[in-house]
Amino acid sequence: MSDTEKRRVAILISGRGSNMTALIEAAKAQGFPAEIALVVSNKADAGGLKIAAQHGITTTVIESRPFGTDREAFERALQDKLTASRIDLVCLAGFLRLLTPWFVKQWEGRMLNIHPALLPAYRGLHTHERALADGVKIHGATVHFVVPEMDAGPIVMQGAVAVRADDTVETLAARVLAVEHQIYPDALRLVASGGVRIENGVCRTRATGPADDRLISPAVI
Ligand code: GAR
Repeated sequence: MSDTEKRRVAILISGRGSNMTALIEAAKAQGFPAEIALVVSNKADAGGLKIAAQHGITTTVIESRPFGTDREAFERALQDKLTASRIDLVCLAGFLRLLTPWFVKQWEGRMLNIHPALLPAYRGLHTHERALADGVKIHGATVHFVVPEMDAGPIVMQGAVAVRADDTVETLAARVLAVEHQIYPDALRLVASGGVRIENGVCRTRATGPADDRLISPAVI
């Protein structure tokens, strides 16, 4: 696939950027239908900025703090940058800023987010703590299209892990993060290649290869 056919992606980050890194590395593969054209951080000290630059990706900081409560003013600056960079798709990757309905509307059907839980369970923060407190036996991560409501929107892909009896927040988070790094690039590949369509708020996926269709936890021996 030539570079001119690839979807141009901007990744929005606020922190360490491990999902960003997974996307950047996946997009290097020949035939990947998207190229990471831009990384934007709303925090100047986000660790991911350095990593993106090391990969030769253009980075920009648009600090959200100076805009205070004027969310739209921040988003207009962001939108200007995305437009100037001819971005087709936006991936939120640990971007810790609520987006207004105005901005979400600009990117309807073209903006993805990753959330560390099996949505619609555990929207919001502290997902691993809450999953452990509830004693769920299966937990995971979700890639979804962004809609105005937080941690909602058509689900593109999910990955699950078995919760172990001796899991701590840290051990569970680490296994879920490894799943995130697998499903975010796979979901982006699917979306960028036109493999999904949204129907009545639900994401329909073109037939894909066989998947393991059962995860039972705990395994009884
Ligand atoms: C990831 O675990 C991501 O799922 C989560 O923040 C982390 C960012 O890590 N996102 C959310 O909780 C959004 N609601 P990263 O910067 O290493 O990708």
